[in-house]
Amino acid sequence: MTSTLFRGGSITTWADEPATALVLEDGLVVSHDEQPCDEVVELDGRCVVPGFVDSHTHLVFGGDRTAEFESRMAGIPYAAGGIRTTVAATRAASTEELASRARRLADECLRSGTTTIEVKSGYGLTVEDERRLLEVARGITSHTTFLGAHVPDGDGYVDLVTGPMLDACAPLATAVDAFCEEGAFDVDQCREVLSAGRARGLAVHLHANQLRPGGGVRLAAELGALSADHCTHVSDEDITAMRDARVAAVLVPAAEFSTRSPYAPARRLLDAAVTVALATDCNPGTSFTTSMPFVIALAVRELRLTPLEALRAATLGGATALAVDAGHLRVGAHADLVVLDAPSPAHLAYRPGVDLVAQVWRGGTLVSGPAARSRCR
Ligand code: NIG
Ligand code: FE
Repeated sequence: MTSTLFRGGSITTWADEPATALVLEDGLVVSHDEQPCDEVVELDGRCVVPGFVDSHTHLVFGGDRTAEFESRMAGIPYAAGGIRTTVAATRAASTEELASRARRLADECLRSGTTTIEVKSGYGLTVEDERRLLEVARGITSHTTFLGAHVPDGDGYVDLVTGPMLDACAPLATAVDAFCEEGAFDVDQCREVLSAGRARGLAVHLHANQLRPGGGVRLAAELGALSADHCTHVSDEDITAMRDARVAAVLVPAAEFSTRSPYAPARRLLDAAVTVALATDCNPGTSFTTSMPFVIALAVRELRLTPLEALRAATLGGATALAVDAGHLRVGAHADLVVLDAPSPAHLAYRPGVDLVAQVWRGGTLVSGPAARSRCR
């Protein structure tokens, strides 16, 4: 088994003690102190951060919504109904087409430093289409979320979702989600869907309070959800409920950016000790980006997080939202990391739009970027 030493630059691990170096062995972080290794990565002043954890994406879809984006930029507001355009295109696409598009997007994620990703269904809305979307998602990640309750499709739709659709999809999913919004599902319908999923052993996420205030966030707290996602319009009571129930707030500022909407009150959430996660929400309607560095830059500029708070939310925060052991480089962690072509992680926000990701390592293996390594004697 090969051991690898990273030295000569700043290393963020989220351990209590600063790391002077990083040693990987057998896919794990084994030391924060320099020791003889089979190979060395000379950082030469560059920095290492944990791989990003993108805890909210919709990577499996067909079609294109450029025209909707253009009309939105010309002043037409976003509404939940746009999802149907993608549903029609997704149903018309073959599973191979969906898989190759999703794979390309997942590769994009990896190249920009994302080493753990969640992928939702939600653009099929029939038993068979939701099932094949989750099958495609499973080819990409082990964090797959059943979002049959994205928008309603015909009479008795909630019964379909909680019955035959859940039967077909639960074995392929690790979590259940719903879109709690005017034009999508109300609080009672979401409670039905999420409770049914939870009864099948699925973890719970909820798209909540994206476009207007409402009971979504409080429902997430009531059900002990892992996360409430979006959280753009939240009251102090909502925030207290999230804190008390330990529901993470998954913030997706690229969606606000691309829909020209107000940003979520990240400072109020952080000040109330709610766990904040940052995610791309990559989807063809509201946020067609796979870039966590872009999301970090937005979080610093628009959500007023410090660069380190943003990095923490994009790594450890995302891991909390997925209940997965990732997003840190403490001794014993999976060796999922990013080498940035920058002296500190603050450059992710300080240099927006610049590709600073030099290398991506997953499970101790270099998976993206040039192999600038030297062998030790
Ligand atoms: O997270 N809000 C619901 N779902 C997506 C948007 C989906 C779409 O418009 O296609 C979101 O923003
Ligand atoms: Fe979403």
